[in-house]
Amino acid sequence: MNRNLGRLKKFEPEKENLLEEILRGFNKPQKELPSKLFYDERGSALFDEICELNEYYLTRTETSIMLDNIEDICSVLGNKCLLIELGSGSSRKIRLLLTGLQDPAGYVPIDISEEHLINSVNALAKDYPSLRIFPVYADYTQPLNLPNFEFSHSKKAVYYPGSTIGNFEPKYAAKFLNRIANRLGRENGLLIGIDLKKDNKTLEDAYNDKKGVTADFNLNILRRLNRELGTDFNMDNWKHHAFYNRNEGRIEMHLISLSDQTVHLNGSSITFVKNETILTEYSYKYSVEDFKDLISDAYDLEKVWTDKENRFGILYFTVK
Ligand code: AVI
Repeated sequence: MNRNLGRLKKFEPEKENLLEEILRGFNKPQKELPSKLFYDERGSALFDEICELNEYYLTRTETSIMLDNIEDICSVLGNKCLLIELGSGSSRKIRLLLTGLQDPAGYVPIDISEEHLINSVNALAKDYPSLRIFPVYADYTQPLNLPNFEFSHSKKAVYYPGSTIGNFEPKYAAKFLNRIANRLGRENGLLIGIDLKKDNKTLEDAYNDKKGVTADFNLNILRRLNRELGTDFNMDNWKHHAFYNRNEGRIEMHLISLSDQTVHLNGSSITFVKNETILTEYSYKYSVEDFKDLISDAYDLEKVWTDKENRFGILYFTVK
């Protein structure tokens, strides 16, 4: 047992009624399903596969920016920095930081998948025996009380990689990051990865890969509903559809109904006409300027790292 590995702190995610949430989404003029439904076991494995795809430049570009600038990034974070990672998952990118940082004060991974979290902190504790780790099992989008960090640290920095912030609508993203700024307090940091605006083709290819992994990831939501909630979606009647909405600056993922059809859910009948869609995800793309402005009430932008082609940005902000 590693004495630097803290006991898992649990904030059981709110058991909101998923069924109600789904029915509410089906009652909207543009029918929708919550994107959190993507990440069951199969969906998480498909997402890992997406990250390796040629067309999906996001993950490898972010990693290469980190690798190319690790010294600079770590010097901005400074000595004795306490790192808090939102949605830590398998905690892969954090290893680059943990290896590069001077005497990090500790690491607080927060994730909604308890199993994923336990496995990854056990592996980290083995590889970084002197690192203090305080795992938190929680839905980080809900307000939560972090452990009290009584030991010395020079500053706290929230690490939020992967352009996951792009999956929130901008208004909500700003509100969420402002709440984090309040929690962190002045002069603490936010290191965040955002996908940058670019030509339609590169963006659309990234969400319409040739192997069809993203299509499978999208359709998996319906398979999950059939299995877990007893719906009767006929998988032959649905098709993946993703496109870049340039006006809104976002990729939209939809499922298209290939015929007029009715689906049943817990006694309700939901009808779809041919070519009607279910919206499953937004993935917003930003310019550095747009993103800086979006959160300028609470943060000052200190530093930007990008790749040669300006595909992806890693931004460091301090709380005002
Ligand atoms: C998790 N998130 C940043 C991914 C994205 O690119 O918006 C989810 C994803 N959806 C389809 N492919 C990947």
